[in-house]
Amino acid sequence: MKKLFLMTVLIQSFILRLTAQDNRQRLLMDFNWSFSQTDTVGADKSDFNDNKWRKLDLPHDWSIENEFSEKAVTGGGGGYLPTGIGWYRKHFVLPKSVVSKNVWIEFDGVYQNSDVWINGHHLGHYPNGYMSFYYDLTPNVKSGENVISVRVDNSRQPNTRWYSGSGIYRHVWLTLVNSLHVAHWGTYIATPVADSASAVVSVKTILENKNSSSKKILIRSMVLDGEGKEVAKSESNVLIEPSKNSEIELRLTVASPSLWSIDVPNMYKLRLSIIDNNKIIDESVTPFGIRDIKYDLKKGFLLNGKQVKMNGVCLHHDAGSVGAAVPEAMWVRRLKILKEMGCNAIRTSHNPVAPEFLDLCDQMGFLVQDEIFDEWTAGKVKYGYSNYFDQWSQKDLVNFIHRDRNHPSIVMWSAGNEIGEQKQENGHEIFKPLLDTFHREDATRPVTTGNDNIAADNGSAKLPFLQMLDIVGYNYVDRWHERRELFYDIDHHDHPDWKMVGTESVSISGVRGNYYGGNFLKMDTAVIRPANLPGVIRAEQLWKFVSSHDYVIGDFMWTGIDYLGEARWPNRNASSGVIDLCGLPKDAYYFYQSQWTEKPMIHLFPHWNWNRKKGKIIPIMVFTNYDTVELFLNGKSFGKKSMEFPRQGNSGGWNKYDRPQVNITTGDLHLTWDVPYESGVLKAVGRKGGKVAYETEIHTAGAPASIRLSIDRNSIDSDSRDVAHIKIEILDAKGNIVPNADNQVQIAVEGEGELIGLDNGNPADHSSMKSNTRKVFNGLALAVIQSKNKPGVVRVKAYSAGLKESTVELSIKKIIPPFAKVEDLKK
Ligand code: GAL
Repeated sequence: MKKLFLMTVLIQSFILRLTAQDNRQRLLMDFNWSFSQTDTVGADKSDFNDNKWRKLDLPHDWSIENEFSEKAVTGGGGGYLPTGIGWYRKHFVLPKSVVSKNVWIEFDGVYQNSDVWINGHHLGHYPNGYMSFYYDLTPNVKSGENVISVRVDNSRQPNTRWYSGSGIYRHVWLTLVNSLHVAHWGTYIATPVADSASAVVSVKTILENKNSSSKKILIRSMVLDGEGKEVAKSESNVLIEPSKNSEIELRLTVASPSLWSIDVPNMYKLRLSIIDNNKIIDESVTPFGIRDIKYDLKKGFLLNGKQVKMNGVCLHHDAGSVGAAVPEAMWVRRLKILKEMGCNAIRTSHNPVAPEFLDLCDQMGFLVQDEIFDEWTAGKVKYGYSNYFDQWSQKDLVNFIHRDRNHPSIVMWSAGNEIGEQKQENGHEIFKPLLDTFHREDATRPVTTGNDNIAADNGSAKLPFLQMLDIVGYNYVDRWHERRELFYDIDHHDHPDWKMVGTESVSISGVRGNYYGGNFLKMDTAVIRPANLPGVIRAEQLWKFVSSHDYVIGDFMWTGIDYLGEARWPNRNASSGVIDLCGLPKDAYYFYQSQWTEKPMIHLFPHWNWNRKKGKIIPIMVFTNYDTVELFLNGKSFGKKSMEFPRQGNSGGWNKYDRPQVNITTGDLHLTWDVPYESGVLKAVGRKGGKVAYETEIHTAGAPASIRLSIDRNSIDSDSRDVAHIKIEILDAKGNIVPNADNQVQIAVEGEGELIGLDNGNPADHSSMKSNTRKVFNGLALAVIQSKNKPGVVRVKAYSAGLKESTVELSIKKIIPPFAKVEDLKK
């Protein structure tokens, strides 16, 4: 029965592919580009000879391929990597039938100041490196060979406050359609009614008729559920005027819909077909979700009528060792790690992200605050967006909304981060046109900005500005005066009509596995700090307030994951994340997991390798979602410690309680013990309601003896440039991880894969991200392996002098790639 069903799905998708090919082809254009990292005169011309240029596949970021250098013009902001000017060219062949087609090219992101030519004809210039944009190629393409040239100019620095990457660092697509078609980003879907009984799906779509005659057509719209089954359908006859765009509005009803939520992110698809004389001449498919969102002054955010606190993180767009050219599978792993922490919301700080990132948020169930700008007219860096704002902001904003507004994961827009205009007398006048555009193009989501000066001695944000916001966004709500303790409450009292969210809040930053305070080179005298304690306490206070005040929508901490840039030499990256640049959790990660998840967990730290501190006190910390933990060293108990948050009061009578009482020993959300060091085994035993439920231990490790490679979360499943993450650990002879190991490891890859990034999360390590050798950092490193586009086997080996080597094998299956590519076009 199961098999039969699978067969039907396969056949159905085959039919979908076939019918789609008859009328609309959207093709990946990532392969076989030529690249030169120098400015080249004449490279825009079709007959330019690029034979000697380097051949590569997109996405590509040339900055990350270079060495870190203190002298790099990007400085600490850009992570000490070079930028400059680069050229890309791609030759591709179009079939004879192209003469009757409309053709457009889409760039998901080119950093920055790109110019694009087709067959020597200049298509346009696009300054903003984070935006997706497209050009109509129709008048300038021909059957046979065509060439696209792209010049990328990231030479003027600084132009952004963090690492941007350089080049065509996201996908490129070519679309062939008939002359009457659904416009690019032309479909807008909303679900004005969405409950478990029924949903109304409202569709607005722009039809473009490039013909010189009018056409009577049939529009068929179909809602397909997650299994591809039709659940709603409508048909209407329309007369389309010549050489014109027409907007069509439709409403469909879905009975008993499967709602989209963060726990069960059900998705639907809308298939729009344009039918002329019984023939489908265009078909566009748009994924969407059916869900209801509301923001309530008292209850905060409601998803499908249920209150959900946004346990959020801010994320930049890079992914460590691959820079800005991030394969989708790397986001899959990173989002899984965040999900396991209990994170349910992401702020895309502070720029538009890759479209596939939002697809993953839809599919994996994250709430997204989609942010567009870090600057308006008041600049932050010399060549930043303020130079383009007047001319480009409206066009960029409309593109941004049109591209993103069908994602159910997006529940809020952000027009900007720490915008200087918040404090200007006329700041609200600059904001007004942006806000109006948001409201005009998508009235279903509220708009916020991340404001760092709502109350500030050096100039507070102006009321007319704040009052225009649909939701008032607070960056570092606890920064000033009594707000350290009162957080949102002062404004909640003074402005009962404000809805509030923590667009950016403090996180427990730090460097993974580093526990020394003071001069850590003098190990005997250095202080041991298991965590950044002031940071832990600040995060605990914030969480206590936010979780117990329903009106606060939630908080987005700065940051979920470390990112390149915003660093001071010798550091190349910011360490504000609770996860390092390799995606390896720091201790701080487990604080959030202890508060945001219920699956039993105890995180015990620091490590237990302090041989030069025999007999000296080592502070031990625990993050847990259990109420009582007992600590043992080599079998000897150091006592039970207990915490409870929120604490329960009497219920049903004096001195009566709903649950067994916890006699707390701390008001904090972590537990600590001071333990005199002796080597051996440290063990934590967790109890809930008096019952032992969870135990964990750490061992003193011996000298490094071997390497262990393991696949971290995803393996390579597809042969289409998919990636796997290989975790590298240094073990002692008994198999314990050596927590302070820094052995130099070399990686060799054989078969159908290649190493595309090797890192260890150490902010001060300057080895190239593309090198095949690097020291591990505090026992760990991570290699990213990408398939070469063929099925087969990949063998990854790691060596290090004096250590037993390790090998891991990946097998890449042949599966139908999710997208057809330009090279698949029939001549
Ligand atoms: C915030 C800002 C972020 C980042 C952070 C560094 O104020 O919004 O972009 O710069 O500071 O701590």
